[in-house]
Amino acid sequence: MTKLDDALAAAIGRYRQAHPRSEAALTRARAVLPGGNTRSSLWNAPFPLCVVGGHGCRIRDVDEHEYIDSLGEFTAGIFGHSSPVLAAAVADAHARGINLSSHTPYEVALAERLVERFPSIDRVRFANSGTEANLMAINAARLATGRERVIVFENGYHGGVATFIPGADRVNAPYAFDVLPFDDIDAAVVAFAKGPEVAAVLVEPMQGAGGCRVASPAFLQSLRDLTRKSGTVLIFDEIQTARMAFGGLQERLGIVPDMTTLGKFFGGGMAFGAFGGKAEIMDLFDPSRPGALPHAGTFNNNSLTMAAGIAAIDHYLSADTLNALFDRGEAFRNRLNAAFIANAAPFEATGIGSILNIHACLDAPQDAVAARRLLQFEVLAEGCYFAPRGLIALSLAITEAEIETFFAALDRALGRLMPVLSEVH
Ligand SMILES: Cc1ncc(COP(=O)(O)O)c(C=O)c1O
Repeated sequence: MTKLDDALAAAIGRYRQAHPRSEAALTRARAVLPGGNTRSSLWNAPFPLCVVGGHGCRIRDVDEHEYIDSLGEFTAGIFGHSSPVLAAAVADAHARGINLSSHTPYEVALAERLVERFPSIDRVRFANSGTEANLMAINAARLATGRERVIVFENGYHGGVATFIPGADRVNAPYAFDVLPFDDIDAAVVAFAKGPEVAAVLVEPMQGAGGCRVASPAFLQSLRDLTRKSGTVLIFDEIQTARMAFGGLQERLGIVPDMTTLGKFFGGGMAFGAFGGKAEIMDLFDPSRPGALPHAGTFNNNSLTMAAGIAAIDHYLSADTLNALFDRGEAFRNRLNAAFIANAAPFEATGIGSILNIHACLDAPQDAVAARRLLQFEVLAEGCYFAPRGLIALSLAITEAEIETFFAALDRALGRLMPVLSEVH
């Protein structure tokens, strides 16, 4: 055991002592859920927190601790918790009657709002998750082009069955994926030189689950140029990055893809996904046409999601609000990196706007993992929650006061950690 391992074991010991009911909750869950878990990304050994509620930017666990929620449901929880606006929209839709077995006015109103925001979307279809939206976008591209190959990128994440993070890809849907290095223009040029048989390029403008790695504008522009020349459908997965501006990160980049996938917060906190694009592709799904592509789904237009999405857009997601959140996130990440440098702490935060990931910069991979986990446990003990993998996604509910609280917590945590970490790197 190194000093770092000892420090991590001690932090986990303190965590265990402070959270007996979370541990008991996992023990109970293990009998009926594999490992007590139904969403792999939430796992955190020895047991994740059992969270019983939240209000604004704070969550409460079953052991009665309160935390500043700096994770924001892995970017979906941009509104904070218990928004009265969203609660009223959902209650109103429920009171009018849900599960209506036909078209409703809601889906049109939500679609109009999305089409207005994204020049890349002439028409949109709704789904129940981002994963489903990406699979349907791939299907649309394959069938529109009559081609099979789909280019994706190392460490990309497009859903539980379309992930290119090493080790996580064994349950992927069986498409003809070509996995290229991310942000590598030469590799993309070589792949396209092989011939015009690529149906789609599916790319996150910033890889979210892959560690908040931002693609260079030049790389994305070269993908735009290569796909345009070869008749390939360029799909931007903006499921995380759509919050970067009124029209998503594509607006900031000035690049218009052929298709865009959305998810997370555009459903106002309900289960949601959407894929949209040029009319010539999306109209393949027009059911009044002979030979239309099917896209079924009991809950595609469920009134609760549609109503929450409309209220979310109208109340929270204006250009000014999203631009201010972007700036706050940029300032947050810069301040975080300044704090790491000032403490000579071996960490770095990457990302863009309000989504960022803390990485431990240590040579040995097992030391890097231990250091990152140690930081997460120490900051948690100070009352601030973020993902064990280092992800932070600021919500609109986090104010400057909570940011000050976060940095004070980080300072105390680094004060305890640095005697250990300074011996490692
Ligand atoms: C970029 C990206 N694409 C797709 C997905 C999948 O969305 P969902 O979890 O709603 O299926 C996610 C989820 O984290 C994501 O971050």
